[in-house]
Amino acid sequence: MSIRSLADNFLKKLEKPAHAFNIISISRSAILYNYSYFRKHYPHSQIWPVLKSNAYGHGLAPIVSILKSHNPSYLIVDSYYEALKVRQLCSTPILLIGSIPPQNFSQMKLDNITLCVQDNISLDLLISSKRSVTFHLKVNTGMNRQGIDPQDLTSTLAKIKDNPQIKMEGVFSHLADADNPQDKYSPQQIKLFSKIITQVNHSGLHPRYFHLAASYSASKINKPRINAIRLGLGLYGYSHPQLRPALTFTSTVVNRRIVQKGDTISYNRTFTAKTKTNVGLIPAGYFEGFDRRLSNRGVVKYRHRFYGVAGRICMNLTCIDFKNTVPKMFDSVEIISPNPIDKNSIKNIARLTDTISYEILIHLHSSIRRQVTD
Ligand SMILES: Cc1ncc(COP(=O)(O)O)c(C=O)c1O
Repeated sequence: MSIRSLADNFLKKLEKPAHAFNIISISRSAILYNYSYFRKHYPHSQIWPVLKSNAYGHGLAPIVSILKSHNPSYLIVDSYYEALKVRQLCSTPILLIGSIPPQNFSQMKLDNITLCVQDNISLDLLISSKRSVTFHLKVNTGMNRQGIDPQDLTSTLAKIKDNPQIKMEGVFSHLADADNPQDKYSPQQIKLFSKIITQVNHSGLHPRYFHLAASYSASKINKPRINAIRLGLGLYGYSHPQLRPALTFTSTVVNRRIVQKGDTISYNRTFTAKTKTNVGLIPAGYFEGFDRRLSNRGVVKYRHRFYGVAGRICMNLTCIDFKNTVPKMFDSVEIISPNPIDKNSIKNIARLTDTISYEILIHLHSSIRRQVTD
């Protein structure tokens, strides 16, 4: 080994010491179970994993490493930044669904990357960039967030036909209310999308893909012409009870003290001990993704029992009220459990903080060490 590579190895080790207090573990078998679940239940659709927002907080590298040998036809990301990161990890084609500054069209390196076009101004700029690119066209079926409006579609399709250097490989849309158990809006959007498929096919352009469904809507769409599912939350195990949550977030007891009755804990003194109690400290706070709204409300699991957060969650630290239990220094404490019925599951944390599972997951900081288990 050369001196140079010895030095490089040494530096790499320095960057990544053997131990970390905070660890996010990703279960390979859970991810693959969820992926296979959708492949089995929707055999006529391709299943495209959505890896945006750092793979919903799970980490791009672990999720790519789990999925790449299963050869999905696309991995979906939101930004060019994410696309470049995924491209460093695998050679799977990437579908970039987010908006892109059109000024960047001419300089982006698009090998293996398929763009999405959301509006006519971007389409015009893509055409004027003179690049030969493959793209998917987004149409607005009622979410009114992005996409070409149906009344503009005829002229948009004509423009695409007139510019054969741009290849429309897919047409897609997104449902607005699919995760609402009382959803009455999706059938209307699905009907409009079906009409759009007919219109696109009659235009003489025959894109290979039409896609509309995400995790919650896969079961609502039963049209053979719609042939791909953009699978986000379901891949990670959170959209349906039949799935397996893949993520566990653990921290470590790094300090402990006995606090007397009447003593207060953490910023602004929002917690007062009712009796003498054991308080343990973990080095994870709202920076790491331990949501600050869980101050005095959230729980962690330690040796199969739950203990409450004592006082305000700080930027990188949280105090736990261990009551009569003396926590052992450097023992592991579970902040997020993969068991959906646990009080510290993603679903229950989202309920406690009055938000959605997506938000809790994606706020898990990318600097936390990820490891793939089983
Ligand atoms: C356009 C689009 N498709 C698919 C998804 C994935 O949705 P889900 O995580 O509900 O599967 C998202 C998520 O934000 C999205 O914006």
